[in-house]
Amino acid sequence: MASRGPRALPLTPNLGAEISGVELSAEMDDATFRKLYQAFLRYQVLLFPPQELPPARQVGFARRFGEVQIHVMNQYHADGYPELYRLSNLDASGKPSGNHPDKGTLAWHTDGSWQRVTGQATIIYGEVMPASGGETHFCDMYGAYERLDASWKKRIASLRAVHNLDFSRTRRHGEDPLTEAQRLAKPPVDHPVVRTHPETGRKCLYLGDHAEYILGMPYDEGRAMIEELNALAVHPDLTYEHRWKTGQLLVWDNRCVMHRATGYDAATQGRVIRRCTVLGEVPA
Ligand SMILES: [Fe+2]
Repeated sequence: MASRGPRALPLTPNLGAEISGVELSAEMDDATFRKLYQAFLRYQVLLFPPQELPPARQVGFARRFGEVQIHVMNQYHADGYPELYRLSNLDASGKPSGNHPDKGTLAWHTDGSWQRVTGQATIIYGEVMPASGGETHFCDMYGAYERLDASWKKRIASLRAVHNLDFSRTRRHGEDPLTEAQRLAKPPVDHPVVRTHPETGRKCLYLGDHAEYILGMPYDEGRAMIEELNALAVHPDLTYEHRWKTGQLLVWDNRCVMHRATGYDAATQGRVIRRCTVLGEVPA
């Protein structure tokens, strides 16, 4: 059957679109992918309706966007694909274990900002979703920058923030810290606080929970500034709150959105996601 091609239905006035007319488990032609990629740049977050998506096809789809990250935290690798990272609260018998698999995701962040080459797309498939909670929320960071007043824009124009995975994990919870080898493999890196999206040319705020301090500023002052900007960024006009259905796929652009997960009852509800992160570029 001839494909009718992707169609995008906006999810909010500002960001996010639901895509219909695409079967992700089938091979995708270049023209279809180009349309999807244009929608990705325009809407920042793409939602695909519930469908079967085998792990191999998810990795194949992710590779269309670029090089797929092999995550440093290899305890999460899934299905024989080091590119796939599974977050699950189910135990070996498939019952909710009561343990949230990654509490770090509950704070607003942008994937891979703790690396020199940061995350481009994150692609998440919902294998098992709880009846309530476990949502994923998005914030438009173009809009967050644009909403800042002129004095803020001037203050932060040339600042650089140091992003550190070890910082964001250990300050939130003491579970599952990085191993010494993981820590050495991913030392802290600095990125501009205001980055220019390499494809749209638009400026956005680039901080989130991995951002620890500001280069050249006393530590506590930089911490306070980061907290203030992270809080200023999140505004109802700039956010999309996604309530998952099993089998949906979300794709978002880490270069211009922050995201977070919401909590759920990990003792009674199952939640399992499969994630790929595509590597982008060094922010400028
Ligand atoms: Fe994330």
